[in-house]
Amino acid sequence: MRVIYLLIILLISLQSYSIYAQQNHPLAKLWGINDTEVLEWLDAEKYLIMIDGILNLILKQDNFISGFGGTYIDIFANWLVVNTVDDSKIGELLALTQINPYKESLHFEIVTNSMNKLNDYFRTIKLIADNYKPRGALIYPDMGFNNIVIYFFDSHINNTEFINAVEPFNPKIIYADNLIHKI
Ligand SMILES: *[C@@H]1O[C@H](CO)[C@@H](O)[C@H](O)[C@H]1NC(C)=O
Ligand SMILES: *[C@@H]1O[C@H](CO)[C@@H](O)[C@H](O)[C@H]1NC(C)=O
Repeated sequence: MRVIYLLIILLISLQSYSIYAQQNHPLAKLWGINDTEVLEWLDAEKYLIMIDGILNLILKQDNFISGFGGTYIDIFANWLVVNTVDDSKIGELLALTQINPYKESLHFEIVTNSMNKLNDYFRTIKLIADNYKPRGALIYPDMGFNNIVIYFFDSHINNTEFINAVEPFNPKIIYADNLIHKI
């Protein structure tokens, strides 16, 4: 699922791809829909991206940053998932005039890591990476996992020392080669 999500991001750049057959558009194949539906889906996604922009400016504010844990678009469900640590903040958020018109497009999911915490973990893990210099690794916050992901391109490279050092921050570790085997 996560790989599919990454692919979606990569393939968004293909949106001007011409549409002429049943299921030739790469996004149609990826999403399991007809070519004719691709434009509709891209429009729906653009709308959610727009809402996400507005929402994220607000979630950065002091009174919300420790109550929420990031957002991401679920194109299949056609909503914006709002990771929520403190659900007592939901009402306050929905009451805002900038957010209220879009409340139907929001889906609140209870998670454990606030944006504050994720930012701290990300900073710390990057510092550890500067020290241990892991090889073939991509480090990024992933809102779907509500965690920091460390993505290793090759499980044969020995990054044990680095992995042990970041363990206290409980990142999600993914090996690209294992993932490809599973798919
Ligand atoms: C694609 O279009 C065909 C014909 O219009 C329809 O029968 C089919 O259900 C559609 N597939 C999807 C995934 O919407
Ligand atoms: C990986 O590196 C660690 C620390 O340098 C070492 O103890 C371990 O034996 C290595 N593992 C393999 C499979 O080479």
